[in-house]
Amino acid sequence: MKKLLFLVIGLTISLGAAGAKKRAEQPLPADPTPRIIEIATENTAMLLTVGEKGDLLFRYYGKRIADPTPILEKRLTRRVDFCTDPQAYTAQGGREQRRASLAVTHSDGDLNTELRYVSHEVKSEKGVTTTTITTSDSKLPFDVRLVYKAYEAEDVIVAHSEITNREAGEVKLRNYYSANVALIADRYYLTQFYGQWAREMFMSETQLVKGVKTIYSQKHVRGVQLENPSFMIALDTPLNENHGNVVAGALAWTGNFDLSFEVDDFDWLNIRSGINPYSAEYSLAPGESFVTPDAIFTFSSEGSGQASRNLHDWARRDGVYNPQALRPTLLNSWEGAYFDFDAAVCKQMIDDAADMGLELFVLDDGWFGNKYPRNNARQGLGDWEVNEAKLPAGIDDIAAYAVSKGLRFGIWIEPEMISPKSELAERHPEWVVGSHNGREMTTTRQQWILDLSNPEVQDFVFGVFDRTMKLSKHISYIKWDANRHVENVGSTFLNDQEQSEFWVKYTRGLYSVYERIRKAYPDVVIQACASGGGRVEYGALKYHDEVWTSDDTDAYTRIFIQYGMSHIYPSLVMGSHVSAVPNHQTGSITPLKFRFDMAMSGRLGMELQPKDLSSEEKAFARKAIADYKELRSTINYGDLYRLHSPYDDKGYSSSMYVEKDKSRAVIFTFRFKYAGRDADCLLKLNGLDPAKRYRIREINLTDKPVFWGDGKEFSGEYLVNEGLNLSLRKVFASSVHVIEEVR
Ligand code: DGJ
Repeated sequence: MKKLLFLVIGLTISLGAAGAKKRAEQPLPADPTPRIIEIATENTAMLLTVGEKGDLLFRYYGKRIADPTPILEKRLTRRVDFCTDPQAYTAQGGREQRRASLAVTHSDGDLNTELRYVSHEVKSEKGVTTTTITTSDSKLPFDVRLVYKAYEAEDVIVAHSEITNREAGEVKLRNYYSANVALIADRYYLTQFYGQWAREMFMSETQLVKGVKTIYSQKHVRGVQLENPSFMIALDTPLNENHGNVVAGALAWTGNFDLSFEVDDFDWLNIRSGINPYSAEYSLAPGESFVTPDAIFTFSSEGSGQASRNLHDWARRDGVYNPQALRPTLLNSWEGAYFDFDAAVCKQMIDDAADMGLELFVLDDGWFGNKYPRNNARQGLGDWEVNEAKLPAGIDDIAAYAVSKGLRFGIWIEPEMISPKSELAERHPEWVVGSHNGREMTTTRQQWILDLSNPEVQDFVFGVFDRTMKLSKHISYIKWDANRHVENVGSTFLNDQEQSEFWVKYTRGLYSVYERIRKAYPDVVIQACASGGGRVEYGALKYHDEVWTSDDTDAYTRIFIQYGMSHIYPSLVMGSHVSAVPNHQTGSITPLKFRFDMAMSGRLGMELQPKDLSSEEKAFARKAIADYKELRSTINYGDLYRLHSPYDDKGYSSSMYVEKDKSRAVIFTFRFKYAGRDADCLLKLNGLDPAKRYRIREINLTDKPVFWGDGKEFSGEYLVNEGLNLSLRKVFASSVHVIEEVR
């Protein structure tokens, strides 16, 4: 483990006579003054330098350099009165001309802030080095602490800022981003992850030109389907899986976000990541601080593959709730039964799930509401009592039945939401988010949102979770859904001046509920769902074990959704279910094997009426589920190597997961376009030990093996250099191969 390198160069900064006069007006940099602050992981580093006036500049992010001191002398222009380098935290004021991470109106109306280095401290613990740099405005008692957590082995740096008002009066925060990072190269290629409901995380690459490109949400709840708060930047050449310099990142915030990419006059690319300031001015009273969410960054000199592996390693260490627990395989009732079930249907599904070897049954939407029974999506949200007509013996009856069959039991809730037709809406119209002044209270999916900025609502939402858990001691999994976004914003709890703080206070309210839940229920598995992938982000994942990746369960579309998602998020959290055909979203008809092969590349589940499967199909499912359970540690905790992109013109996609000790790998390959009678899928394997010997075998077979060498032994060297040619030629042909070390 390498220690963070902190260089102290030169004992003082000479300022001359004119400088001395200015110094009287500014907080003095501590003496001896650091000139370079290196925030380093094993292979990467960010370099910040302290300028003559104490200004803190962002100078470098890339491969770690043993002696970075020449950076101190580097100039991009000969003009001495022209600062071309971005600030470590771009603040509106002074000579900053780029988009500001910080923009405030000070208590005296001044719009300028000039942050100067004051001091910094470095702490190291368990492979994480935290550098906290305190800066202060040159004129006013206003501080920003920049905190960088460097995950040494993972090559990930997580940054946030803490803004403190020490002025006599209120300060208004207009921009309050988490962090900015600057890169310098000839060309920048931005890969973003975009989509819509039931088609999330598709990928698109754009070469950036001078100016600003943003990835953005102002939808707040269910906010990441259009654009995910994550990115990859390839430097100089387009994104490549195995080659080239790449910076990747994500924001951990369950609310409005803004990631902006500005190529400036000097060809710096300034990446700014944080809470979206859209309509969200925030007041800081004297003495108050604002802590921004975590912005996550990684650098790879070996393409996007290594960048993803870094993020996955970090996520499985600190980014996801309870990462070490194996995620259970499950049957979810939604696409199999929708609202149309009773206890007998649930028990039949449980019998089938147990028979196929699944580990958990999840009862989805439709189990609650009496005055307004939840028999459709038009009513009942908020009334979280068991629907007595549908389930007269209660939830415990079904949960206990599941346990008696060797399964665990889970249940669906959507506690942030309220139907206009609900007893809750009759009791608490003031809890609904909206303008409440006679404007139309708009609905989406016939529902409104509860105002989580209000502590009473926070108590209610916690109570929904708590009371649901108490419906049966056998509940060990909650699917937490959220099926609309925020519009017509407004809170009856916040006063007129605080209305723009709603966005931040809702998310903080939500997090305080999550905190209480995790204290009370540390072991319950919680899935984040928001019409599928509307909450696929690291703010939610801190409290959730997994996400419902997408409402699109079609295995063909999932190739793209899961391929995109794998760039930023690990397969451990990727709920991936085998559903019926024709697929309920897309109408596609794919073979059961193709659907299983796809679902097994994430966290395997099923979401159909199992009684509709034939006995042959059930037998196939039984074997596939057993194999998955045996391979799950490799799939969910191994290193991911994407072998073939679905975005090229060959019409197939392939990825492999390799155990950390390189003793076992699992390869998933999917043909989705016809490319010719003799077109094989050509895979050069990756991540194996060239010196080891491996045996390869195909599982989930419904026909003869697609690799001529099935069952044979190969050297790792052969597999990575010559690789496999798989005769997967027909549309929706697929394969799963297991490669095991021969000892
Ligand atoms: C949207 C979710 O994404 C679905 O999986 C399902 O839970 C429905 N909501 C239930 O209303």
